[in-house]
Amino acid sequence: MLEIKDAVAVITGGGSGIGLSLAKYWVGKGGKVVLADVAEDGLKKAKAEIEALGGAVAIVAGNVTREEDCAKLADTAIERFGKINLVAPFAGVIKDGMMVSPDKETGKVTRKMSLKDFQFVIDINLTGVFLTIRECAERMINNNCSGLICLVSSTGSLGTAGQINYSSTKAAMSVIPKVLTGEFFRRGFSDKIRVAAVAPGYVGTDMVKNMNQTALDKILENVPIKRLIEPEEVASLVCEIYRNEALAGDTYFIHGGLRMSSKG
Ligand SMILES: NC(=O)c1ccc[n+]([C@@H]2O[C@H](COP(=O)([O-])OP(=O)(O)OC[C@H]3O[C@@H](n4cnc5c(N)ncnc54)[C@H](O)[C@@H]3O)[C@@H](O)[C@H]2O)c1
Repeated sequence: MLEIKDAVAVITGGGSGIGLSLAKYWVGKGGKVVLADVAEDGLKKAKAEIEALGGAVAIVAGNVTREEDCAKLADTAIERFGKINLVAPFAGVIKDGMMVSPDKETGKVTRKMSLKDFQFVIDINLTGVFLTIRECAERMINNNCSGLICLVSSTGSLGTAGQINYSSTKAAMSVIPKVLTGEFFRRGFSDKIRVAAVAPGYVGTDMVKNMNQTALDKILENVPIKRLIEPEEVASLVCEIYRNEALAGDTYFIHGGLRMSSKG
C-alpha cells in the first residue's frame, strides 16, 4: 500500500468541484498539491482554503488545451516539490445538445450541434487530458517517481443522449488506462506508474447543480441511494486507488447504484 503522506498530487480543474475536493482530501492525509485551473479566481480561493487546512500547495493558472501550460504545470510540481505521485487531470466541461433536431411540424432538421460546441468539449476533456498526462508522465519517469495517473470518466461513457461530445470523451477516459498500462508494461515501468480511472454518476458540483432542476429530479429518480454523489466520496475513491497497488488498468464506477438504461 502506498502512503499519501508527503506524496505530491497534480490536479487540473483544481479550482472547484471534484478537483478541489480531491486536493483537500489529499492534504488532509498529509499530501502536497499542485493545482491548475483556467479560472484564476477559483484557483486563488482554492489555495487559500488549502493553506487554511495547513496543506502545502502550489497553483498554476493555465488552460489544459495549451501544450506549454501543461508543461509548466508538470515543471512546477518538480521544481516546487521534487516529484509527482498522483496525476488527476480533472478539468472538464459539458456542452450538451442533440446532434440533429428536427422541427416538430415539418420533421426537417432545423438545428444541429455546432462544430464549435463539439470541439470545445473534445479539446478540454480529451486533448487537455492527453497533454496533462503526457507532460506529467514524462517528468515522473525522468525523476524516478512512482504512483498513479487517475483519469475521470463518467457513467456518461456508456452513452448518454444529448452528450455526443461529452460521452465520447468519457468513453476515451475508460480506455486510456488500458492503453497506457499496456504501454508502461512493455516499457518496464508499469509496477511504478499505474493508470486507472474513476467513473462517477451524478456528483453534487456546480456542473450538475447548474442543470435544469426538472432534469435533475428525473435523474435522481434512478439513483437508488436517492441523492447526488458527494465530491468527497469520489476523492476518497481516488485516494483508495492510489493507496492500493492492486488496482490498475481499469475504470472504477461510483454512482450510488444508478440504473443505466440504453436511453442514457
Ligand atoms: N459532476 C459530475 O456529476 C461528474 C460526473 C462524472 C464525471 N465528472 C467529471 O469530473 C471532472 C470535474 O467535474 P466537476 O463536476 O468538478 O466540474 P466543475 O465545473 O466544478 O470543475 C471543473 C473545473 O475545470 C476547470 N476548467 C474548465 N476548462 C478548463 C481548461 N480548459 N483548463 C483548465 N481548467 C479548466 C473549471 O474552471 C473548473 O474549475 C470533469 O472532468 C467532469 O467531466 C463530473
